[in-house]
Amino acid sequence: MTINVAILGCSGRMGRNLIQAASEHKHINLVGGNVRASSSFVNFDLGELAGIGAIGQKTSTDLNDLLAADVLIDFTSIESTLENIKWCQQHKKAIVIGTTGFSAAQVEIIEQAGKNIPIVLAPNTSVGVNLLFKLVEITAKAIGDYTDIEIFEAHHRFKKDAPSGTAMKIGEVIADTLGRNLDECAIYGREGITDERKQDTIGFATVRAGDIIGEHTAFFADLGERLEITHKASSRMTFALGAMRATTWLAKVKEGCYTMQDVLGLTE
Ligand SMILES: NC(=O)c1ccc[n+]([C@@H]2O[C@H](COP(=O)([O-])OP(=O)(O)OC[C@H]3O[C@@H](n4cnc5c(N)ncnc54)[C@H](OP(=O)(O)O)[C@@H]3O)[C@@H](O)[C@H]2O)c1
Repeated sequence: MTINVAILGCSGRMGRNLIQAASEHKHINLVGGNVRASSSFVNFDLGELAGIGAIGQKTSTDLNDLLAADVLIDFTSIESTLENIKWCQQHKKAIVIGTTGFSAAQVEIIEQAGKNIPIVLAPNTSVGVNLLFKLVEITAKAIGDYTDIEIFEAHHRFKKDAPSGTAMKIGEVIADTLGRNLDECAIYGREGITDERKQDTIGFATVRAGDIIGEHTAFFADLGERLEITHKASSRMTFALGAMRATTWLAKVKEGCYTMQDVLGLTE
């Protein structure tokens, strides 16, 4: 089975990785991609954009040039993705959305669109990170009520927010599994006389340094032993490869708004 795919936001950091991952995938046929009308990469060879040599497909500024695609992959911006979804609904195209930062109301718009077309909405397309979410859920169920739970994350010096969205999601998964409210039990950093650790808290620790792409560890610590579940991303290609996995999965399903947990068969 070959799936025709177009990449939206080709000149972005993720766009370039997505072009490379799509070009190298044996079941994906890259049929095009878009950039803004004001971009200096209009009518530019996609392969050259990705640094893999010309592949004979050029960037376009008009989504109507992408009608040959079965699935669009969108890692752009909130405004752009919301516009792209309208076009996908008009033309009955499936879409993998990697763009992040949607408000609850915007997620609702995407979920509504999922009634008409197949959508994967995945703020983190890394397969490893999505497995980590499942592993911490299993671990919390088994030992979370008596172990000390701490979440560590490290990212590059340019990252503007802390803790990372992924660290917060790990905390939410654990808190939900244990019936706790994360807003009430989270401790963000410690300093000075902190007193002994309260057992039902979930601690967060953050490092910002150099060019670290992203590291996350969930600790479940008891007296005498501790379990550490760690994920380390070493390149953006991990997100691009996860997006390819979502794309090939999405091409086989009916309309609906799905998650990476669905793609990986981790939902009950
Ligand atoms: N799901 C995941 O696992 C994952 C992983 C990494 C990043 N992300 C998210 O993916 C998004 C992009 O990240 P990035 O690091 O690749 O950012 P980036 O380098 O800024 O790339 C975004 C690209 O989208 C393009 N774009 C924005 N609006 C557009 C429009 N209306 N028409 C055409 N192109 C448009 C931008 O074009 P211009 O350069 O012309 O503005 C830019 O090339 C962000 O939301 C980020 O948080 C998700």
